Amino acid sequence: FRCTSAFIIRELKIWIQFSLVDRFIYYFIICLLKKNKGGYIYMSSQVVVGTQWGDEGKGKIVDVLAEKADLIVRFQGGDNAGHTVVVNGKKHVLHLLPSGVLHEDATCIIGPGVVCNPFVLLEEMDTLKKGGLSTDHILISDRAQMLMPYHKVQDALEESANGNKIGTTKRGIGPCYADKYARTGIRFHEFVNFETFKERLKECVTFKNKLFTAVYGAEPMDYDKMVADFAAIHDRIVPMIKETTHLVNDALDQDKRVLFEGAQAAMLDINYGTYPYVTSSSPTSAGVTVGAGVAPSRIKTVCGVVKAYSTRVGEGPFVTELLDEQGEWIRTHGGEYGATTGRPRRCGWLDLLVVKHANMMSGLTDIVITKIDVLTGLEKIKACVGYEIDGKVYDYIPSDQEDVARAKPVYKEFDGWTEDISQMSKYDQLPENAKAYLRFIEEFTGVRISMVSVGPDRVNNIYIHDID
Ligand code: GDP
Ligand code: IMO
Ligand code: MG
Repeated sequence: FRCTSAFIIRELKIWIQFSLVDRFIYYFIICLLKKNKGGYIYMSSQVVVGTQWGDEGKGKIVDVLAEKADLIVRFQGGDNAGHTVVVNGKKHVLHLLPSGVLHEDATCIIGPGVVCNPFVLLEEMDTLKKGGLSTDHILISDRAQMLMPYHKVQDALEESANGNKIGTTKRGIGPCYADKYARTGIRFHEFVNFETFKERLKECVTFKNKLFTAVYGAEPMDYDKMVADFAAIHDRIVPMIKETTHLVNDALDQDKRVLFEGAQAAMLDINYGTYPYVTSSSPTSAGVTVGAGVAPSRIKTVCGVVKAYSTRVGEGPFVTELLDEQGEWIRTHGGEYGATTGRPRRCGWLDLLVVKHANMMSGLTDIVITKIDVLTGLEKIKACVGYEIDGKVYDYIPSDQEDVARAKPVYKEFDGWTEDISQMSKYDQLPENAKAYLRFIEEFTGVRISMVSVGPDRVNNIYIHDID
């Protein structure tokens, strides 16, 4: 074992709770089990992922779990994310910064798998500073991709030209990832030396301008203005650029608590989501390994955030969508309007095939249910347990989106409740009908529900099991 101060404090706490004999047996068994696995007995690496189409309340849950974290790492996506965290009634909307940023003792890392627009990042940091919060604990991986002004322009041009519109957030995410995989992207370490950066920028802008003018018939971008804009932020960005992969792995070696924060969600995954109506990254637990630079064996807990109903922003099939007043009711009661674009979110019943799919991709160890308070007052609540396509019932999601678009949901119906649950803090206080709904989600997915969020504020939670 490593004898760090974090290790000693945690041990002391555990020793107080259990008898000496119990602990001895526990050590003996654990040592035997872990003998060949590098001995990371106390390693704490938690992953938080969305299990639907995003906006499940990941930001809130990360903020809650971050209280105990030493490091918080974003591993994919960019400022397409919109994570709302409410503390003492004050709302913070974060796009690029990890949602754990409000905990100033933890280091916040924008990881190698992120596409980071440095201008948006600084704007977000300025907003926090104006609110009296520190931003000294934020680092950017030197391997992260720089999301450039031309990526945003390209995103908008592709959306307006594309017959098969995706309904992107127009933040430049797709074009930036496309350049990354075409190996023409610019990484943050290239920004450190401004003279060589200018040369790289020249190459890229020249190429993009050919594309914009010749293919899209759009205006070329002004290279000199772009250089001036980047020069103005150089001194603020460069001190934040660090080699973060060793930092994260060293922290795990030292038994520190590392929290990996997912943006977007399973159904927006580039490989396993509702392609092509997806984002351009992997928002599953697998994304952590490539996006943060840690081995799969080092992930301990994967916490899937499940909203008690479904929402989706942008185009693409949505089997349980409610296009009637019921959907409008959920939108109004749940405040379902995009944090990034302000678009009304499409609303529908909980789709448990979707959650099951997310579990298969991410290997969830825990589920956190959010926004169940929003369903209070409904006479009946439904959850989808199968898709009927051309007379056949599927218990999984087919890959062909045309099949999914034709699918009719097979529902299980639950009785609702009328009690205000938003101030409840114990599972036993919940109405029986709410408990029945939760129990069914556990049974269907085979994953335990460890926490239930009953309101937007940091404190509105029912804790059931430790997420460790
Ligand atoms: P994220 O993208 O997954 O972080 O989710 P968003 O922040 O985009 O959307 C979730 C919204 O629901 C935010 O406005 C949160 O403040 C709010 N929220 C989170 N959890 C709860 C909850 O349990 N109940 C209610 N009523 N609101 C919640
Ligand atoms: P958070 O982290 C909901 C959706 C967009 C669009 C598709 C592709 O707040 O849950 P992109 O701009 O990524 O190329 O858009 O993905 N989308 C999200 N929907 N929440 C998000 O993030 C999203 N990020 C992207 O609406 O349909
Ligand atoms: Mg969101």
